[in-house]
Amino acid sequence: YEIYLNGMTGAVPRLPTDLTRLEELTEQRLGPGPVGYVAGSAGDGSTARANRAALKQHRIVPRMLRDVHERDLSVEVLGRALPAPLTLAPVGVLSIMHPDAESAAARAAAAQGVPFVLSSASSTPMEQVAEAMGDAERWFQLYWPKDPEVALSFLNRAKAAGYTALVVTLDTPLLAWRPRDLDQAYLPFLHGVGTANYFTDPAFRAGLAKPVHEDPNAAVMHFVGMFADPGKTWPDLAFLREHWDGPIVLKGILHPDDARAAADAGMDGVVVSNHGGRQVAGSIAAAEALPGVVKAVGDRLTVLFDSGIRTGDDIFKALALGAEAVLVGRPYVYGLGLDGQAGVEHVIRCLLAELDLTLALSGHAGPGTLSPADLTEGRA
Ligand code: FNR
Repeated sequence: YEIYLNGMTGAVPRLPTDLTRLEELTEQRLGPGPVGYVAGSAGDGSTARANRAALKQHRIVPRMLRDVHERDLSVEVLGRALPAPLTLAPVGVLSIMHPDAESAAARAAAAQGVPFVLSSASSTPMEQVAEAMGDAERWFQLYWPKDPEVALSFLNRAKAAGYTALVVTLDTPLLAWRPRDLDQAYLPFLHGVGTANYFTDPAFRAGLAKPVHEDPNAAVMHFVGMFADPGKTWPDLAFLREHWDGPIVLKGILHPDDARAAADAGMDGVVVSNHGGRQVAGSIAAAEALPGVVKAVGDRLTVLFDSGIRTGDDIFKALALGAEAVLVGRPYVYGLGLDGQAGVEHVIRCLLAELDLTLALSGHAGPGTLSPADLTEGRA
Protein backbone atom coordinates (compact mmCIF):
# COMPACT_ATOMS: atom_id res chain seq x y z
CA TYR A 1 0.00 0.00 0.00
CA GLU A 2 3.00 2.27 0.49
CA ILE A 3 3.23 2.88 -3.26
CA TYR A 4 -0.49 3.72 -3.53
CA LEU A 5 -0.39 6.02 -0.49
CA ASN A 6 2.61 7.87 -1.92
CA GLY A 7 0.66 8.06 -5.16
CA MET A 8 -1.94 10.25 -3.40
CA THR A 9 0.71 12.98 -3.45
CA GLY A 10 1.48 12.29 -7.09
CA ALA A 11 4.66 10.29 -6.42
CA VAL A 12 5.26 7.18 -8.50
CA PRO A 13 8.11 4.66 -8.12
CA ARG A 14 11.42 5.67 -9.72
CA LEU A 15 11.73 2.28 -11.42
CA PRO A 16 9.01 0.06 -12.90
CA THR A 17 7.39 -2.51 -10.61
CA ASP A 18 7.24 -4.97 -13.53
CA LEU A 19 10.87 -6.10 -13.29
CA THR A 20 10.84 -7.63 -16.76
CA ARG A 21 11.07 -4.05 -18.09
CA LEU A 22 14.40 -3.35 -16.39
CA GLU A 23 16.63 -4.87 -19.08
CA GLU A 24 15.33 -2.56 -21.80
CA LEU A 25 15.59 0.49 -19.54
CA THR A 26 19.15 -0.39 -18.55
CA GLU A 27 20.12 -0.75 -22.19
CA GLN A 28 18.64 2.69 -22.95
CA ARG A 29 20.50 4.21 -20.00
CA LEU A 30 23.88 2.40 -20.16
CA GLY A 31 24.14 1.34 -23.79
CA PRO A 32 24.33 -2.12 -25.36
CA GLY A 33 27.88 -3.02 -24.19
CA PRO A 34 27.33 -3.62 -20.46
CA VAL A 35 23.83 -4.99 -21.00
CA GLY A 36 25.16 -7.41 -23.61
CA TYR A 37 27.37 -8.93 -20.95
CA VAL A 38 24.55 -9.21 -18.40
CA ALA A 39 21.65 -10.21 -20.65
CA GLY A 40 23.71 -12.46 -22.88
CA SER A 41 23.47 -16.20 -22.62
CA ALA A 42 24.89 -19.27 -24.28
CA GLY A 43 24.40 -19.94 -27.97
CA ASP A 44 21.13 -18.72 -29.42
CA GLY A 45 19.69 -17.98 -25.97
CA SER A 46 17.47 -21.08 -26.03
CA THR A 47 18.23 -22.10 -22.43
CA ALA A 48 17.51 -18.64 -21.03
CA ARG A 49 14.16 -18.67 -22.86
CA ALA A 50 13.46 -22.23 -21.70
CA ASN A 51 14.02 -21.13 -18.09
CA ARG A 52 11.22 -18.59 -18.39
CA ALA A 53 8.95 -20.91 -20.36
CA ALA A 54 9.32 -23.76 -17.85
CA LEU A 55 8.32 -21.51 -14.96
CA LYS A 56 5.39 -20.12 -16.92
CA GLN A 57 4.17 -23.57 -17.85
CA HIS A 58 3.25 -24.17 -14.23
CA ARG A 59 0.07 -22.42 -13.15
CA ILE A 60 -0.93 -21.58 -9.61
CA VAL A 61 -4.28 -22.92 -8.37
CA PRO A 62 -5.47 -20.39 -5.75
CA ARG A 63 -7.53 -21.56 -2.77
CA MET A 64 -10.22 -19.44 -1.05
CA LEU A 65 -11.41 -18.74 2.49
CA ARG A 66 -8.21 -19.62 4.24
CA ASP A 67 -7.06 -17.31 7.00
CA VAL A 68 -4.18 -15.29 5.54
CA HIS A 69 -4.61 -12.30 7.82
CA GLU A 70 -1.23 -12.75 9.51
CA ARG A 71 1.52 -13.63 7.11
CA ASP A 72 5.18 -14.47 7.46
CA LEU A 73 7.69 -14.99 4.64
CA SER A 74 10.47 -16.24 6.89
CA VAL A 75 12.23 -19.55 6.29
CA GLU A 76 15.16 -21.48 7.70
CA VAL A 77 17.95 -22.13 5.23
CA LEU A 78 21.19 -23.94 6.07
CA GLY A 79 20.33 -23.64 9.74
CA ARG A 80 19.81 -19.87 9.62
CA ALA A 81 16.57 -17.95 9.95
CA LEU A 82 16.02 -15.74 6.91
CA PRO A 83 13.26 -13.12 6.66
CA ALA A 84 12.31 -14.39 3.21
CA PRO A 85 13.18 -17.23 0.82
CA LEU A 86 15.35 -14.99 -1.37
CA THR A 87 19.05 -14.29 -1.84
CA LEU A 88 21.01 -12.25 -4.36
CA ALA A 89 22.86 -14.59 -6.75
CA PRO A 90 26.60 -14.26 -7.23
CA VAL A 91 27.22 -12.05 -10.25
CA GLY A 92 30.75 -11.08 -11.27
CA VAL A 93 32.14 -7.72 -12.36
CA LEU A 94 29.30 -5.53 -11.10
CA SER A 95 31.43 -2.43 -11.67
CA ILE A 96 30.26 -2.72 -15.28
CA MET A 97 26.86 -1.62 -14.03
CA HIS A 98 27.66 0.92 -11.33
CA PRO A 99 30.81 2.38 -9.74
CA ASP A 100 29.66 1.26 -6.28
CA ALA A 101 29.38 -2.27 -7.70
CA GLU A 102 29.25 -5.17 -5.22
CA SER A 103 29.33 -2.89 -2.17
CA ALA A 104 26.08 -1.20 -3.23
CA ALA A 105 24.37 -4.52 -3.97
CA ALA A 106 25.59 -5.95 -0.67
CA ARG A 107 24.35 -2.92 1.28
CA ALA A 108 20.95 -3.28 -0.38
CA ALA A 109 20.79 -6.95 0.57
CA ALA A 110 21.83 -6.12 4.14
CA ALA A 111 19.21 -3.35 4.40
CA GLN A 112 16.48 -5.77 3.28
CA GLY A 113 17.80 -8.67 5.37
CA VAL A 114 18.43 -11.07 2.51
CA PRO A 115 21.78 -12.83 2.09
CA PHE A 116 24.22 -11.57 -0.51
CA VAL A 117 26.30 -14.15 -2.33
CA LEU A 118 29.58 -12.53 -3.35
CA SER A 119 31.14 -13.78 -6.57
CA SER A 120 34.75 -14.90 -6.72
CA ALA A 121 34.87 -12.71 -9.85
CA SER A 122 33.80 -9.55 -8.07
CA SER A 123 35.25 -6.18 -8.91
CA THR A 124 35.60 -5.41 -5.19
CA PRO A 125 37.76 -7.42 -2.75
CA MET A 126 35.73 -9.67 -0.48
CA GLU A 127 36.92 -7.89 2.69
CA GLN A 128 35.65 -4.53 1.44
CA VAL A 129 32.23 -5.97 0.59
CA ALA A 130 32.05 -7.63 4.00
CA GLU A 131 32.77 -4.30 5.65
CA ALA A 132 29.95 -2.66 3.70
CA MET A 133 27.55 -5.27 5.08
CA GLY A 134 28.20 -5.00 8.82
CA ASP A 135 26.73 -8.06 10.54
CA ALA A 136 24.42 -8.98 7.68
CA GLU A 137 24.34 -12.52 6.28
CA ARG A 138 26.81 -13.12 3.46
CA TRP A 139 27.88 -16.16 1.53
CA PHE A 140 30.95 -16.56 -0.67
CA GLN A 141 30.79 -18.08 -4.17
CA LEU A 142 33.86 -20.00 -5.20
CA TYR A 143 35.15 -20.39 -8.70
CA TRP A 144 37.53 -23.08 -7.61
CA PRO A 145 41.01 -21.80 -8.52
CA LYS A 146 43.34 -24.30 -10.14
CA ASP A 147 46.12 -23.57 -7.64
CA PRO A 148 45.20 -25.17 -4.29
CA GLU A 149 47.19 -22.50 -2.41
CA VAL A 150 45.00 -19.80 -3.92
CA ALA A 151 41.86 -21.85 -3.25
CA LEU A 152 42.88 -22.25 0.38
CA SER A 153 43.73 -18.59 0.68
CA PHE A 154 40.25 -17.66 -0.67
CA LEU A 155 38.62 -19.95 1.90
CA ASN A 156 40.63 -18.49 4.76
CA ARG A 157 39.97 -14.91 3.69
CA ALA A 158 36.25 -15.59 3.26
CA LYS A 159 36.05 -17.16 6.69
CA ALA A 160 37.96 -14.29 8.29
CA ALA A 161 35.66 -11.76 6.59
CA GLY A 162 32.55 -13.39 8.06
CA TYR A 163 31.16 -15.25 5.04
CA THR A 164 29.16 -18.13 6.53
CA ALA A 165 28.31 -20.44 3.61
CA LEU A 166 30.42 -21.46 0.63
CA VAL A 167 28.65 -21.70 -2.72
CA VAL A 168 30.81 -23.68 -5.14
CA THR A 169 29.87 -23.11 -8.76
CA LEU A 170 30.48 -26.25 -10.81
CA ASP A 171 29.00 -25.30 -14.17
CA THR A 172 31.73 -22.88 -15.25
CA PRO A 173 35.02 -24.80 -15.59
CA LEU A 174 35.18 -23.00 -18.93
CA LEU A 175 33.34 -19.94 -20.18
CA ALA A 176 30.67 -20.94 -22.66
CA TRP A 177 30.05 -19.85 -26.24
CA ARG A 178 28.38 -16.49 -25.64
CA PRO A 179 27.75 -14.67 -28.92
CA ARG A 180 26.96 -11.27 -27.41
CA ASP A 181 30.36 -11.19 -25.71
CA LEU A 182 32.15 -12.78 -28.66
CA ASP A 183 30.70 -10.27 -31.13
CA GLN A 184 31.95 -7.40 -28.99
CA ALA A 185 35.25 -9.24 -28.45
CA TYR A 186 34.92 -8.19 -24.84
CA LEU A 187 35.74 -10.27 -21.79
CA PRO A 188 35.91 -8.08 -18.67
CA PHE A 189 38.55 -10.22 -16.97
CA LEU A 190 41.00 -9.58 -19.79
CA HIS A 191 40.79 -5.91 -18.84
CA GLY A 192 41.43 -6.68 -15.20
CA VAL A 193 37.75 -6.21 -14.26
CA GLY A 194 36.44 -8.88 -11.89
CA THR A 195 39.87 -9.88 -10.68
CA ALA A 196 39.94 -7.96 -7.40
CA ASN A 197 39.84 -11.05 -5.19
CA TYR A 198 42.78 -12.52 -7.07
CA PHE A 199 44.89 -9.39 -7.37
CA THR A 200 44.61 -8.75 -3.62
CA ASP A 201 45.37 -12.35 -2.73
CA PRO A 202 48.76 -13.10 -1.18
CA ALA A 203 48.94 -16.64 -2.59
CA PHE A 204 48.00 -15.39 -6.07
CA ARG A 205 50.55 -12.60 -5.89
CA ALA A 206 53.23 -15.00 -4.78
CA GLY A 207 52.92 -16.67 -8.19
CA LEU A 208 53.70 -13.44 -10.08
CA ALA A 209 57.18 -12.44 -11.24
CA LYS A 210 56.37 -8.74 -10.79
CA PRO A 211 53.77 -6.91 -8.66
CA VAL A 212 50.34 -6.50 -10.32
CA HIS A 213 50.75 -2.76 -10.90
CA GLU A 214 54.13 -3.24 -12.60
CA ASP A 215 52.91 -5.84 -15.08
CA PRO A 216 49.09 -5.94 -15.12
CA ASN A 217 48.99 -7.99 -18.34
CA ALA A 218 51.04 -10.78 -16.82
CA ALA A 219 48.74 -10.69 -13.77
CA VAL A 220 45.68 -11.03 -16.00
CA MET A 221 47.22 -13.97 -17.86
CA HIS A 222 48.06 -15.60 -14.53
CA PHE A 223 44.41 -15.14 -13.56
CA VAL A 224 43.20 -16.75 -16.79
CA GLY A 225 45.21 -19.88 -16.05
CA MET A 226 43.96 -19.90 -12.46
CA PHE A 227 40.26 -19.02 -12.85
CA ALA A 228 38.90 -22.56 -12.91
CA ASP A 229 39.94 -26.12 -13.54
CA PRO A 230 38.13 -28.32 -16.07
CA GLY A 231 39.98 -31.34 -14.68
CA LYS A 232 38.21 -31.47 -11.32
CA THR A 233 36.06 -34.48 -10.37
CA TRP A 234 33.84 -35.49 -7.43
CA PRO A 235 36.62 -36.83 -5.14
CA ASP A 236 38.21 -33.35 -5.22
CA LEU A 237 35.36 -32.06 -3.05
CA ALA A 238 37.09 -33.67 -0.06
CA PHE A 239 39.57 -30.76 -0.17
CA LEU A 240 36.80 -28.20 0.30
CA ARG A 241 35.07 -30.26 3.00
CA GLU A 242 38.35 -30.49 4.87
CA HIS A 243 39.07 -26.76 4.74
CA TRP A 244 35.61 -25.17 5.15
CA ASP A 245 33.75 -25.72 8.43
CA GLY A 246 30.50 -24.04 7.45
CA PRO A 247 27.83 -25.18 5.01
CA ILE A 248 28.91 -25.95 1.42
CA VAL A 249 26.40 -25.65 -1.40
CA LEU A 250 27.09 -26.88 -4.94
CA LYS A 251 25.70 -24.55 -7.60
CA GLY A 252 24.79 -25.74 -11.07
CA ILE A 253 23.25 -29.13 -10.26
CA LEU A 254 20.67 -30.37 -12.80
CA HIS A 255 20.79 -34.18 -12.60
CA PRO A 256 19.41 -36.18 -9.64
CA ASP A 257 22.50 -38.40 -9.63
CA ASP A 258 24.77 -35.37 -9.28
CA ALA A 259 22.59 -34.22 -6.37
CA ARG A 260 23.02 -37.64 -4.74
CA ALA A 261 26.78 -37.43 -5.32
CA ALA A 262 26.76 -34.04 -3.57
CA ALA A 263 25.05 -35.58 -0.55
CA ASP A 264 27.46 -38.53 -0.55
CA ALA A 265 30.40 -36.08 -0.63
CA GLY A 266 29.19 -34.47 2.61
CA MET A 267 27.85 -31.29 1.04
CA ASP A 268 25.03 -29.38 2.72
CA GLY A 269 23.04 -28.19 -0.25
CA VAL A 270 22.69 -27.69 -3.97
CA VAL A 271 21.52 -24.86 -6.19
CA VAL A 272 19.48 -26.22 -9.07
CA SER A 273 20.68 -23.79 -11.72
CA ASN A 274 21.86 -23.58 -15.31
CA HIS A 275 23.65 -20.28 -14.66
CA GLY A 276 20.74 -18.30 -16.08
CA GLY A 277 21.16 -20.08 -19.41
CA ARG A 278 24.68 -18.76 -19.83
CA GLN A 279 26.59 -22.03 -20.04
CA VAL A 280 24.91 -24.80 -22.08
CA ALA A 281 22.63 -23.78 -24.94
CA GLY A 282 19.85 -26.30 -25.37
CA SER A 283 20.12 -27.37 -21.72
CA ILE A 284 17.27 -28.59 -19.57
CA ALA A 285 15.47 -25.64 -17.99
CA ALA A 286 16.27 -25.22 -14.32
CA ALA A 287 12.59 -25.50 -13.35
CA GLU A 288 12.35 -28.77 -15.29
CA ALA A 289 15.28 -30.16 -13.31
CA LEU A 290 14.03 -29.05 -9.89
CA PRO A 291 11.44 -31.77 -9.08
CA GLY A 292 13.88 -34.60 -9.87
CA VAL A 293 16.56 -33.12 -7.62
CA VAL A 294 14.08 -32.50 -4.79
CA LYS A 295 12.88 -36.10 -5.05
CA ALA A 296 16.46 -37.41 -5.01
CA VAL A 297 17.91 -35.39 -2.11
CA GLY A 298 15.18 -33.17 -0.63
CA ASP A 299 15.36 -35.09 2.64
CA ARG A 300 19.19 -34.94 2.82
CA LEU A 301 20.19 -31.55 1.42
CA THR A 302 19.04 -27.95 1.27
CA VAL A 303 17.75 -27.42 -2.27
CA LEU A 304 17.95 -23.89 -3.63
CA PHE A 305 16.95 -22.70 -7.09
CA ASP A 306 17.85 -20.07 -9.65
CA SER A 307 17.66 -19.26 -13.36
CA GLY A 308 14.71 -17.32 -14.70
CA ILE A 309 13.17 -15.83 -11.53
CA ARG A 310 11.63 -12.47 -12.48
CA THR A 311 8.43 -12.21 -10.41
CA GLY A 312 6.87 -13.12 -7.10
CA ASP A 313 4.82 -15.85 -8.73
CA ASP A 314 8.02 -17.38 -10.15
CA ILE A 315 9.33 -17.63 -6.58
CA PHE A 316 5.99 -19.15 -5.46
CA LYS A 317 6.33 -21.83 -8.16
CA ALA A 318 9.96 -22.69 -7.33
CA LEU A 319 9.04 -23.06 -3.65
CA ALA A 320 5.96 -25.16 -4.49
CA LEU A 321 8.21 -27.43 -6.56
CA GLY A 322 10.35 -27.98 -3.46
CA ALA A 323 13.06 -25.30 -3.40
CA GLU A 324 13.72 -23.85 0.07
CA ALA A 325 14.74 -20.47 -1.31
CA VAL A 326 15.65 -18.88 -4.63
CA LEU A 327 18.52 -16.79 -5.91
CA VAL A 328 17.82 -13.96 -8.29
CA GLY A 329 20.44 -12.74 -10.78
CA ARG A 330 19.85 -10.32 -13.65
CA PRO A 331 16.94 -8.29 -12.19
CA TYR A 332 19.00 -6.93 -9.29
CA VAL A 333 21.93 -6.27 -11.60
CA TYR A 334 19.70 -4.06 -13.75
CA GLY A 335 18.38 -2.39 -10.58
CA LEU A 336 22.00 -1.64 -9.66
CA GLY A 337 22.69 -0.21 -13.11
CA LEU A 338 19.63 2.02 -13.01
CA ASP A 339 19.70 3.32 -9.46
CA GLY A 340 22.60 1.89 -7.43
CA GLN A 341 21.79 0.55 -3.96
CA ALA A 342 18.26 2.00 -4.13
CA GLY A 343 17.67 0.17 -7.41
CA VAL A 344 18.69 -3.17 -5.88
CA GLU A 345 16.46 -2.52 -2.87
CA HIS A 346 13.60 -1.73 -5.25
CA VAL A 347 14.03 -5.11 -6.93
CA ILE A 348 14.15 -7.00 -3.63
CA ARG A 349 11.09 -5.20 -2.27
CA CYS A 350 9.06 -5.71 -5.45
CA LEU A 351 9.84 -9.43 -5.52
CA LEU A 352 8.97 -9.91 -1.86
CA ALA A 353 5.80 -7.81 -1.99
CA GLU A 354 4.59 -9.71 -5.04
CA LEU A 355 5.47 -13.03 -3.43
CA ASP A 356 3.57 -12.06 -0.27
CA LEU A 357 0.49 -11.07 -2.27
CA THR A 358 0.64 -14.16 -4.50
CA LEU A 359 0.85 -16.38 -1.44
CA ALA A 360 -2.00 -14.59 0.34
CA LEU A 361 -4.28 -14.49 -2.70
CA SER A 362 -3.65 -18.20 -3.23
CA GLY A 363 -4.55 -19.09 0.35
CA HIS A 364 -1.11 -19.31 2.00
CA ALA A 365 0.05 -17.39 5.06
CA GLY A 366 3.68 -18.26 4.31
CA PRO A 367 5.96 -20.48 2.23
CA GLY A 368 5.68 -23.40 4.68
CA THR A 369 2.35 -24.69 3.35
CA LEU A 370 3.33 -24.79 -0.34
CA SER A 371 3.48 -28.08 -2.23
CA PRO A 372 3.34 -29.27 -5.85
CA ALA A 373 -0.43 -29.60 -5.36
CA ASP A 374 -0.64 -25.78 -5.57
CA LEU A 375 0.38 -25.99 -9.23
CA THR A 376 -1.06 -27.37 -12.42
CA GLU A 377 0.31 -27.58 -15.95
CA GLY A 378 -0.98 -24.80 -18.19
CA ARG A 379 -2.16 -25.65 -21.67
CA ALA A 380 -2.56 -22.23 -23.29
C1 FNR B 1 26.22 -14.69 -13.41
N1 FNR B 1 26.24 -15.86 -12.65
C2 FNR B 1 27.36 -16.15 -11.89
N2 FNR B 1 27.36 -17.25 -11.08
C3 FNR B 1 28.41 -17.54 -10.30
O1 FNR B 1 28.38 -18.52 -9.58
N3 FNR B 1 29.49 -16.68 -10.27
C4 FNR B 1 29.56 -15.56 -11.04
O2 FNR B 1 30.52 -14.81 -11.00
C5 FNR B 1 28.48 -15.29 -11.91
N4 FNR B 1 28.50 -14.22 -12.73
C6 FNR B 1 27.38 -13.88 -13.45
C7 FNR B 1 27.38 -12.72 -14.22
C8 FNR B 1 26.22 -12.32 -14.87
C9 FNR B 1 26.22 -11.05 -15.65
C10 FNR B 1 25.05 -13.12 -14.80
C11 FNR B 1 23.77 -12.70 -15.46
C12 FNR B 1 25.06 -14.29 -14.09
C13 FNR B 1 25.05 -16.73 -12.58
C14 FNR B 1 24.13 -16.28 -11.45
O3 FNR B 1 24.67 -16.56 -10.19
C15 FNR B 1 22.76 -16.99 -11.52
O4 FNR B 1 22.95 -18.38 -11.58
C16 FNR B 1 21.92 -16.56 -12.69
O5 FNR B 1 22.05 -15.18 -12.95
C17 FNR B 1 20.47 -16.87 -12.40
O6 FNR B 1 19.67 -16.61 -13.49
P1 FNR B 1 18.84 -15.24 -13.68
O7 FNR B 1 18.17 -14.91 -12.35
O8 FNR B 1 19.81 -14.20 -14.12
O9 FNR B 1 17.88 -15.65 -14.75
